[in-house]
Formats: sequence, structure tokens, C-alpha cells
Amino acid sequence: MTRADAGVGRGPGGPPYNVYKMKRLGILLSGRGSNFLAIADAIAQRRLDAEIAVVISNRPDAPGLAAALERGIHAVSFPSKGLDREVYDRQLIEGLRAHHVDLVCLAGYMRILSGYFIREFPLRILNIHPSLLPAFPGLDAQHQALEHGAKIAGCTVHFVDEGLDSGPIVAQAAVPVLDGDTAESLSARILKEEHRLYSEAIALVLSGAFKIEGRRVVRA
Ligand code: GRF
Repeated sequence: MTRADAGVGRGPGGPPYNVYKMKRLGILLSGRGSNFLAIADAIAQRRLDAEIAVVISNRPDAPGLAAALERGIHAVSFPSKGLDREVYDRQLIEGLRAHHVDLVCLAGYMRILSGYFIREFPLRILNIHPSLLPAFPGLDAQHQALEHGAKIAGCTVHFVDEGLDSGPIVAQAAVPVLDGDTAESLSARILKEEHRLYSEAIALVLSGAFKIEGRRVVRA
């Protein structure tokens, strides 16, 4: 029996949720790591009742990895370069399981996860994306929004399924697109919201106080 299986709650249509004990986060990142740091801050400031069990980067030189080590958070690099997707993901699963991770949080993780990985953590992988999904999935979402002439942009926290940024939406926040915006200025405005939104969405998922109706994540 896994830690999660020992729980008392149940996410309808999904795995059992342990509303008391499900708190151990596994963060996957590839770069700067500002979302990871915002989650770490929320935990330190007791706005989020969770612990970061491990940070794993697929890039050894990711600044987010160095930032985690500086804070004394357990962080490891599993270089992915040249490795078959599933072979790599098996290593990743082993690393996450070794740290008893309950919820996987993608925080600027720039590698597509295999179906194998996703099926190992059903409704237990979150991602943050810098657009109001389903608009502008994929890379350079802020640039896509500007090019399209969108007047409202934002960010989305969603469960990860096997599609591209397509899983059920947990939370969203909107920001205006201003006439003088560049991809950089719009990204900065969105990022500020990302840093607030991700911890709030994680708290909701860890609480187990939600159900999934079709594609809709609703409070239970
Ligand atoms: C964020 O914009 C996030 O929405 C996207 O990748 C970026 C990661 O930024 N998935 P950071 O590494 O968390 O600073």
C-alpha cells in the first residue's frame, strides 16, 4: 500500500486522496525556478501546508536547482540529454517514489512526459502554463497571445494528461494585455500571478476538497 492509498478521501473519477497526509511535493524544473521558489516561500510562510520532498531538474545547470540547494532543499539533477523518453521517465519515477512524493508539480519543466509517467501519477501531476488555456498551449504562450492580439492574458494551473496543456483546469488568473506590451513585459505581469496562483491550486488539490465532473474541477 502506498502512502496515498492509506487515505480517507476520494477524488471522484480518480485515485484515493489522503486529505490528512498527502503533502509531499516533487518539483520538476528545467530553468530559472521562480515558481518553485514561490511555492517554497508559501510553505515557509505557512500559506501552504506541504513539504518539498525533492526538486529534480533534467538540466544540471538549471538556476532553480542551485536555488533549491542554497535553501537546503533536497535537489538532484537527472540529466535527460540523449535518453529515450520512457527510459528517462522510469528514472524520474524512481526518484520521486524514493522520496514518497504525493503530488508532482511541474515548474518550468521543459520536457514532454511520457504516457507511462502520466499513468503512474493519475491526477497527481500539476502544471502551470502562462496563458488562459485552452488559448495558446505549447511554447511561447505570451508571445502567441501578443501576436494574436488578445486583450486579456493570464495563467492556468491544470492537471497533466497525455495531451498538450490539455488536462482539467484547477485555477486561472487573468491579466490585461496593454498596448505597449512586449513579450517580456506581459510575461512579467503574468508571472506575478503565477507565483500566487500555483500555491493556491496546490493547496486545493492537497486538501482533496474537489471533485472532477467531466472536465470541470469543482469544489466538493
Ligand atoms: C513559467 O512561465 C511557467 O508558466 C512556464 O514556464 C515558466 C517557468 O518559469 N511553464 P520559472 O522557471 O518558474 O521561473
